[in-house]
Amino acid sequence: MPVSLVILAAGQGTRMNSDLPKVLHRVAGAPLLHHAMQAGAALSPERVVVVAGHGAEAVSKAARAWDEACGIVVQAEQLGTGHAVAQAAPALAGVSGDCVVLYGDTPFIRPETLEAMLEARARHAVVVLGFEARDPGRYGRLIAQGEALERIVEFKDATEAQRAITLCNSGVICADTALLLDLVGTLGNDNAAGEYYLTDVVELARRRGLSAGVVTCDEAETLGVNTRAQLAEAEAAFQARARAEALENGVTLTAPETVFFALDTVVGRDAIIGPNVVFGPGVTIESGAEIRAFCHLEGCHVSRGADVGPFARLRPGAELAEDVHVGNFVEIKNAILEEGVKVGHLTYLGDADVGEGTNIGAGTVTCNYDGVMKHRTRIGKRAFIGSDTMLVAPVTVGDGALTGSGSVITADVPAGAVALGRARQVVKPGLAQKLFETLRALKAAQNKD
Ligand code: UD1
Ligand code: CA
Repeated sequence: MPVSLVILAAGQGTRMNSDLPKVLHRVAGAPLLHHAMQAGAALSPERVVVVAGHGAEAVSKAARAWDEACGIVVQAEQLGTGHAVAQAAPALAGVSGDCVVLYGDTPFIRPETLEAMLEARARHAVVVLGFEARDPGRYGRLIAQGEALERIVEFKDATEAQRAITLCNSGVICADTALLLDLVGTLGNDNAAGEYYLTDVVELARRRGLSAGVVTCDEAETLGVNTRAQLAEAEAAFQARARAEALENGVTLTAPETVFFALDTVVGRDAIIGPNVVFGPGVTIESGAEIRAFCHLEGCHVSRGADVGPFARLRPGAELAEDVHVGNFVEIKNAILEEGVKVGHLTYLGDADVGEGTNIGAGTVTCNYDGVMKHRTRIGKRAFIGSDTMLVAPVTVGDGALTGSGSVITADVPAGAVALGRARQVVKPGLAQKLFETLRALKAAQNKD
């Protein structure tokens, strides 16, 4: 049966104390919204609709960055979760099957949990995701008998006895799309908050003789982000899980608690990750590669047998083929390093292609930016770039060519050639000794004064 998703993301998130809409705050390098969209994507939804409001432009841009095809509807005024779902109606026109409602600020719902909800739809017209709360606080309370759900009472509207219930509403709800839209269309707002509560669809459905049910999950999955403290808590929870998963998958983490993963980091079996390594978005590390201490990687690919760091930075577009060696204080951006390239120390390679087996000496810089445009440096196979070579792009160094240390290379170097672009050395015999004597005499004269 087809499934569609509605992701509620219109709220401002006042308690974040931020100019940024809440769902754009990041956990593991990705906006909260992407976490929710990723969880939902596991259901292969036919349609995804994001309900934006505060910061709608930025929120829709982020949503489209994750899923180009997703629909965006704008809820101009935040009149409640039920009102928010009702805004999705035009974007869901003609869609059949089930609809799952997720919150953009609740990043950790597992795909398995959503699947369990869809499965429970065989028994109930409306399925709500609940959890046993350690501290039920202001969550909505589920009035249920076993799996059968009678209704949801919001904290503000609950009696003392209802507030004592610890089975709480996560906010995730699932029903037939047409039924859900029909129900949210008939919601009232006669309640303590004066809002159109999505939670009221349970009671409305039951009045029509339909059944509602609860599926439960671990409280950790329902962690919602409302404050910066909860954002930090979410980050810690994500990292703890990602580290445990990496270890489980056969990755060595020397000091797991110091390694930070992004939502999409992929690390192969038998890779070794040293202490204090940070992965930004878009990194894949192949099996058996080693990332030494204090490296920062983003948008890059490290192949099998390669080693990086300590203290290296791989920026977007860094592509390291097998057995590449990148050493300390090296920065690589938008550059392809073919098999066996060695870049040992203190080097910047930006917008470059480096052929297999080439050695890049310490202090080499690709001068890729002229202040207006970026240019490419092309270095062939088995070339030798002497230490402190400045490669002023666009420039090409051929296969097997050599550049002298300290050269400023402004013109192409043919294959097999040596290029020297530096001042010729001059030697003055005995001059150093004379210079020192003069200087010492000067200092002695000054000290007498
Ligand atoms: C909601 C539930 C509550 C549940 C809790 C779980 C209702 C009425 N209450 O309460 O039972 O225990 O979540 O966290 O649904 N949003 C919109 N437009 C709106 C209102 C909200 O897009 O008009 C979005 C928010 O941005 C947020 C989500 O919906 O992502 C939840 O809204 P929020 O106001 O935080 O609901 P709660 O009062 O926490
Ligand atoms: Ca909330």
